[in-house]
Amino acid sequence: MEKIKQWKNFEFKNNPFEDKNIEQIKNKLKCLDNIVKIEEIIQLKQLLSSECLVLQMGECAETFNFSDYKYIKNKYEFLIQCGLIIQNKIINENKVMNIIKIGRIAGQFAKPRSDEKEIVDNKEILTYKGDIINHININKRKYNPYNMIKAYNIGKKIYKYLQNIKNNITFDNKFLQTINKSKNNSFKKKFFQIDINKIDKNKLLNFYTSKESLLLDFEESLTRHINGLYYNVSTHLLWLGNKNCFIGSSQIEYLKNVENPIGIKISETKKIEDIIVIIKTINPNNEKGKILLIIRINNENINQYLKELILAIQKHNINVIFSVDPMHGNTEKIANIKTRKVEKIEENILKFMEILNKYNIISKGIHLETSSSFVSECIYDEILDKKKFLQKRYITYCDPRLSPDMTIDIINKYL
Ligand code: PEP
Ligand code: CO
Repeated sequence: MEKIKQWKNFEFKNNPFEDKNIEQIKNKLKCLDNIVKIEEIIQLKQLLSSECLVLQMGECAETFNFSDYKYIKNKYEFLIQCGLIIQNKIINENKVMNIIKIGRIAGQFAKPRSDEKEIVDNKEILTYKGDIINHININKRKYNPYNMIKAYNIGKKIYKYLQNIKNNITFDNKFLQTINKSKNNSFKKKFFQIDINKIDKNKLLNFYTSKESLLLDFEESLTRHINGLYYNVSTHLLWLGNKNCFIGSSQIEYLKNVENPIGIKISETKKIEDIIVIIKTINPNNEKGKILLIIRINNENINQYLKELILAIQKHNINVIFSVDPMHGNTEKIANIKTRKVEKIEENILKFMEILNKYNIISKGIHLETSSSFVSECIYDEILDKKKFLQKRYITYCDPRLSPDMTIDIINKYL
């Protein structure tokens, strides 16, 4: 059996598509064009092997409905503006570093869920697993493998929009002014002082795409074999979700065969020796720029775990970039609404940065769930009527996202 199909012999928790039509759909996907270019995948890996800061952000779950040109333009501009904040700081500090911007975009359609079913209006139904698998509407939760074709078409459309926006953007002071969204006035002032002539426009506008590697029927179908190497051409970077980060998982078996850079989500429940095995499995040649370790550990455990992990990585001489996802370890419910407190997110990042500084680790990353519109899904602890705030614009299909002002404040403070 071809290497890229061998994931089927490994453990895949809750594979939704055991459908008889699956092979026919996969054959169709296998004949379609690449979504991203192979040169860009290689370029991203090269950039990740340099001294860099990685900003990875976007929605928990992208949806087919929110994929029109205007929506994608907002997302792109927001990503670039966040990159600009970092780039400006780097210039002011006279540092030379690559700022790498990676969106959770153009394919982030599959969601791992803790529960297969949920109770809604006294009825037990399947949980929502992302638009590539089923539908948010409670009457349309049946898994549908034909959604994979839609996901391909919409992913490709979004990617094309992104390229088009990038090539046609007018990079002037007006572009900077959208940043006006921040609540933080002293920061806003600082932002308007940015001398855009000092910024390398090409570098600033550059971006990459990413998504969780979950639905392997789809990933396998979008894998191309070129000069003896496999590339997943549906995205630039794929990450291994926390739920599938265990020795023997199908996702690891798939990911170890592709050339794309790979993120690995890590929670404190994983044994450090297992993480070492997983990294060595996915990156047997210890290639630089290949592995992005995304630490998503709550504030109580991050210090201890991260220190031990860094020591183990150093002992084994393993090349990785450490990134922090301060959100997935810090999710809570307030008035029965899933949310995240900004203060806790900040504390998590601060702890992460302190530890990395202590060990003189220069390249680093931050991974955030964000929205480019003013949602009220995450919350400041100082807000008194939290329930009222959360009910104002809570529209996510999955996890709560930071609003633009929250995101900008966080990036400005910590990167
Ligand atoms: C996510 O990134 O949306 C996610 C599900 O994260 P994790 O795998 O870290 O729980
Ligand atoms: Co999420």
